[in-house]
Amino acid sequence: MKDQILRMFKEAKGEFLSGESLSQALQCSRTAIWKHIEELRVEGYQFEAVRRSGYRLVAVPDIPYPEEVMSGLDTRILGKVVHFFPTIDSTQHRAHALAKEGAPEGTVVIADEQVGGKGRLGRVWHSPPSTGISMSLLLRPKLELHRCPQLTLLAAVALVEAIRQETGLPVTIKWPNDILLNGKKICGILTELNAESDCINYLIIGMGINVNTPSFPEEIGQIATSLMLEKGEPVKRVKLIQNILGKLEDLYAQYLEEGFAPIKARWESHAISIGKRVIIRQLSGTMVGMALGIDDDGVLLVQKDDGSLEKVYSADIEIS
Ligand code: BTN
Repeated sequence: MKDQILRMFKEAKGEFLSGESLSQALQCSRTAIWKHIEELRVEGYQFEAVRRSGYRLVAVPDIPYPEEVMSGLDTRILGKVVHFFPTIDSTQHRAHALAKEGAPEGTVVIADEQVGGKGRLGRVWHSPPSTGISMSLLLRPKLELHRCPQLTLLAAVALVEAIRQETGLPVTIKWPNDILLNGKKICGILTELNAESDCINYLIIGMGINVNTPSFPEEIGQIATSLMLEKGEPVKRVKLIQNILGKLEDLYAQYLEEGFAPIKARWESHAISIGKRVIIRQLSGTMVGMALGIDDDGVLLVQKDDGSLEKVYSADIEIS
C-alpha cells in the first residue's frame, strides 16, 4: 500500500491529494494513509501538509530504493527487478543467492552501505552509508567461459560513459577495470561467475562507485577519490544508476549481436594505460614495458624493453 500511495503522489506531480481521496482510492482508513505517509517521511520523502488540501510530495530522497531506480528507467531487461538493502555484508553475496534461487537476468542488488564489501584479489571495498553506489548485476549470457572477461570490460565502458555523461568529469579506464580520475580510483568492478564445464551459468558484475564520499580513511586517501570531491558538488546517485543500467543494456545487446570488436574499440578509446609505459606488479614479480592493447580475452599485451611480447592476465599496473 505504501508503494501505491507513493505512486499516486508521483502521478499527482506535486499537486495536493487529500487524505479522503487517498483512503477512498485505496479502500482504507485515513489513519492508515497517515501512517504510510509518516513511514515514507522516515525513508526521506518530504511532504507538505495543508489543512483541507491534504498532502503533496515536495522532494524524493536520492536513495536507490527500487521505486526510485525503476521509475523512469528506460530498459527492457536490466533493472526490471531491483533489491535494495540499507545495510548488507556484500551485494555480491546476495546476488549469488538470488541467482541460485533462479532470479531472472537483469536482476540488480543495491545497498546503501556494505559492511563486508569485496574488492578484487581478496581486498576490502570501502562502502560507507549514504554516499556511494554498491550494485551487483546478474547476467545469464550463453557464452563460453573464456569470454567472461569481455563482460567486465563492457561494464567498464558503460560506467565510464555514464559517469562522463552525468558529471562531465573526464574519467578513464586503467586496465583491467579500474575507473580513475586524476590518477585516483573512483570506481571498481568485480566480476564473479558460476560455470559448468565450459559454459557460464550466470555472472555477477559488482560495481562500486565513490559518488558523494566526503573523505577516505588514511590508508586509501592517497589512491581513492569521489565524484563529489572532484566535481565540487554532490552527484545524484539514482540518476547515475539509471544511466549505467541503460548503457549496460545497450552495450550488452550490441555485444550479443555483433561480438566483442565494437566494445573493445570503445574500451581502448577510454583506456589511459594503452600506448604508455607501465609497471606491472604480479605475484611472480615486477616488469616494465609498453602496454600495446588488449586481446579478445581482455588480456593486456605488453612489449618489454627487449622487444619480446608478454600477455598479462592478472596484475596491478602503474603508468610510469
Ligand atoms: C575492485 O577491487 O576494484 C572491485 C571493487 C568492487 C566493489 C563492488 S561494490 C558492489 C559489489 N559488492 C561487493 O562486495 N563488491 C562489489
